[in-house]
Amino acid sequence: MISIPQYLEFPSTGKTKEICEFFLEMLERKNKSLYMHSQQVANYAACIAAQLGLSPREIKTIKTGALLHDIGHLSVPNVVLNKAPYLSVREAAQFKKHCIAGYSMLENMEEFSDIIDLIRSHHEHWNGTGYPDRLKGVNIPLGARIIAVADHYDQNINPCTQKWQKTHEEAVLELQNGAGTLFDPAVVKAFMDAVAPEMKALPVKEKAVKKAAKKKPAKKHKAAPQPKAAAEPVTAAVKKAAAPEKPAAVEKIAAEKPAAEKISVV
Ligand SMILES: [Fe+2]
Repeated sequence: MISIPQYLEFPSTGKTKEICEFFLEMLERKNKSLYMHSQQVANYAACIAAQLGLSPREIKTIKTGALLHDIGHLSVPNVVLNKAPYLSVREAAQFKKHCIAGYSMLENMEEFSDIIDLIRSHHEHWNGTGYPDRLKGVNIPLGARIIAVADHYDQNINPCTQKWQKTHEEAVLELQNGAGTLFDPAVVKAFMDAVAPEMKALPVKEKAVKKAAKKKPAKKHKAAPQPKAAAEPVTAAVKKAAAPEKPAAVEKIAAEKPAAEKISVV
């Protein structure tokens, strides 16, 4: 995990602080990984917001939204959370409800009126293929676009949030490949400038692809080897590096299930 600057202590007002601490404690008790993920996403999001030149008040709002972005997972069974991102269609539907669940938990609290939309929309995609409302482009609140980038990066790089862990370069490459489709390109650029400035002047894709080609498969990646990466053309290898790999255990589960219950990656 790379070190990042810590922006603004939050929260600062009495009641808001109490409510935030309550939800964070609930998250920690339910699933420690979720709690740690929330903290990391909050810091990355604050870095990006500052890089975009937003005001301290806006940065604080986005940081709070990022801290609480996944509180809707309190309503999702641990058996589903622990299996994500490889879920059956039914489980995926359950998982995807966390955006609206989080929104609903705070919708009557006036002090959170600025952040409920960020919680609701943090899985929307720039090209309109996300959920829950299939918002597109600038119709997605800026804070939610920022949280989406921070969330995706931390999901990939933080060992507590995935069954596998990608390198910093692989995670950044994935963000760059998603700029303009999954993510707001301006937000990805701000992320690069704020969190990965060392990769700014480098031919990022080539560098990451070369590294992926040289890298031996790690033990925990045993089920999803990439032996052909070096022999493939660069474009094919880039696509392969960006695509999530499915561990063999999950494939086995998928194979054992009846055809009607497909595995879907959320
Ligand atoms: Fe989420």
